Amino acid sequence: MNERYADLAETAIESIEKIAGTHPGCRRAHARGSFYKAVFTPNGQAAPYTTAAHLQREPVKAVVRFSDSSPNPNMLDGFSPVKGMSVQFHLPDGQVTYLVGVNVPVFLTKTPEAFVEMMRLAAEKPGPWDLVKMFTDYPEGKAAFQIFKRLKPFVSYSTSRYFPIHTFYFINQAGDRYPIKYEWTPDQSFSKEAVKEAVTHPADYLEKELEEELPVGFTLSIILGKPEDAVDDSTVLWPEERSRVLVGRLEIKEKLTHPNDQLLFDPTILPAGIECSDDPVLHARKEIYTASFKRRSRGL
Ligand code: HEM
Repeated sequence: MNERYADLAETAIESIEKIAGTHPGCRRAHARGSFYKAVFTPNGQAAPYTTAAHLQREPVKAVVRFSDSSPNPNMLDGFSPVKGMSVQFHLPDGQVTYLVGVNVPVFLTKTPEAFVEMMRLAAEKPGPWDLVKMFTDYPEGKAAFQIFKRLKPFVSYSTSRYFPIHTFYFINQAGDRYPIKYEWTPDQSFSKEAVKEAVTHPADYLEKELEEELPVGFTLSIILGKPEDAVDDSTVLWPEERSRVLVGRLEIKEKLTHPNDQLLFDPTILPAGIECSDDPVLHARKEIYTASFKRRSRGL
């Protein structure tokens, strides 16, 4: 375990609790979510880039958790436009690996320290966040803020794209390394009417709606980076024209009525054939999520 971010993790969790209150037993972010049984079927197109077992040709079982980003489990769906899609893949040798994404393609800060400082300031100063000040203090967050500003009310878990944001390295049989990013694309797209209606959605609307729509599917693509692309900075988007490869399809089949809610979706647990980039936000997440898990798993 990388202890580098242990103190930062505690500060992060304490700031979140100051801002949003403590909700015993809940995740300190993305508190409300629901779990689904799924199957991921790779199409073999990732094999030239990685030896990862779940990205060859054999289907693997998966568990999916869709979530609202708020640390408050009672927050109305329409109030927090950022939503999460977490996938736990079950590899043939019994190991697991995770892909944890949100519906925006970039993060707000280059470093976890800057993000935690933003939360600490927000915790000290109750009331709405001063967005203009944050722009000035953290110009690196510009791309993300601009995307947030344009975000439409969230319509449905099954019609959104999801981005695991960070760069990972794929490693193939010959030992070649490829910087990649992932993207989940839904089978279904949403209508303009649905966007208008979304504003009036009650809490837990999204979960109920998804249950009626099952089964639903998503395609997983990888985007191949070029040497000039930022690999350790999640605030930067790669150019649109980068090559994409469709690597498989996820079919979400049914809601898990008695899920193991103690799952910790750790985006740094990876199989042979995939490695983390040096993005510091990615590495800090491991410890921040563990600090959240330690509290919630004890009912705190
Ligand atoms: C320093 C930056 C970040 C902080 C402080 C943070 C904080 C947290 C915390 C405390 C949790 C709850 C963990 C648990 O109890 O299991 C969480 C979950 C989550 N985070 Fe982050 N996060 C950060 C960055 C990100 C990024 C970059 C993404 C998107 C790629 C992301 C997406 C998610 C999702 C989807 C979940 C829900 C996981 C689940 O379904 O269990 N977070 N985050």
